[in-house]
Amino acid sequence: MATGHLYVTRDLGPEPMELLRNSGHELVVHPDRDLPPTREALLDGVSGAAGIITLLTEKMDAALFDHAGPQLQVVSAVSVGTDNIDVGAASSRGITVTNTPDVLTDATADLAMGLLLALNRRIVQADAFLRRGEAWSWGPRLFLGRDLAGEVLGIVGYGRIGEALARRARAFGMRVIAAGSDQAHNSGVERMPLPQLLRTADVVSLHAPLTERTRHLLGTEELAAMKQGAIIINTARGPLIDEDALVEALRRGKIRGAGLDVFEYEPKIHPGLLELDSVVLTPHIGSAGEQTRTRMAMLALENALAVLDGQSPPTPVNE
Ligand code: DGY
Repeated sequence: MATGHLYVTRDLGPEPMELLRNSGHELVVHPDRDLPPTREALLDGVSGAAGIITLLTEKMDAALFDHAGPQLQVVSAVSVGTDNIDVGAASSRGITVTNTPDVLTDATADLAMGLLLALNRRIVQADAFLRRGEAWSWGPRLFLGRDLAGEVLGIVGYGRIGEALARRARAFGMRVIAAGSDQAHNSGVERMPLPQLLRTADVVSLHAPLTERTRHLLGTEELAAMKQGAIIINTARGPLIDEDALVEALRRGKIRGAGLDVFEYEPKIHPGLLELDSVVLTPHIGSAGEQTRTRMAMLALENALAVLDGQSPPTPVNE
């Protein structure tokens, strides 16, 4: 068994915390249930740790690894994305990094579909209209949106979540096309280069990981290349979109609407987005299903405990 404590950056809920308490490892848990530790508290918590279980809100970089000390063996992310972790710096120090793929695929695809439905059928605007107490009666043009059936959905980053969204969209009668492939899938979705997808899709949904290559994947040029009146869904990572450029394209009506669960400078929201009623905003809740969050926490624990007990973790990021 490793020497050093296991630092957990947030309470992960009753079932996972019970398992951790019974794991035989000394446990240090950041006391605030809702807010992440400050950098200072984080450094304090990881000092002398053999393992860290972290959320995507914590920056895990070389300086933090060095501060933790040479006994640090594992950084276990309770997320599929690991862009908050310097995986290269971890690898060069012999630290195993793990994540939680698969268990959040359906929940995230559900939210992407929900944002798409909300935008195309103007559900949020219609709800706000009724709450304002406006006089109304059924009318042939009242809150006209767009049908999903027959629209073209372009999935950018066709991995597990993209594929799960494709299944949902096809059930709604959409034609699905995809660009970019991290994994080989064989689900009959038409593949094409990104520029062609942008010219063709009525709806573009982002599912790529955030890397230096994918930062601002959608900027001024790409938005200009999109179909007039297309909509954008992002449940992946905020910096995939240049938000200044998006706000401009929304204001001009080039982009008809955007469903955003993630933001370029999260948790800050671009003030331009807040002013537009053509956007639907959610606070990074793609995986926020009760069962999903428990599965994510349990997998993160399994990963951390396996490494600390000298075994191979189920879902490593660096082998
Ligand atoms: C992830 O896992 O990367 C999501 O963004 C958070 O659930």
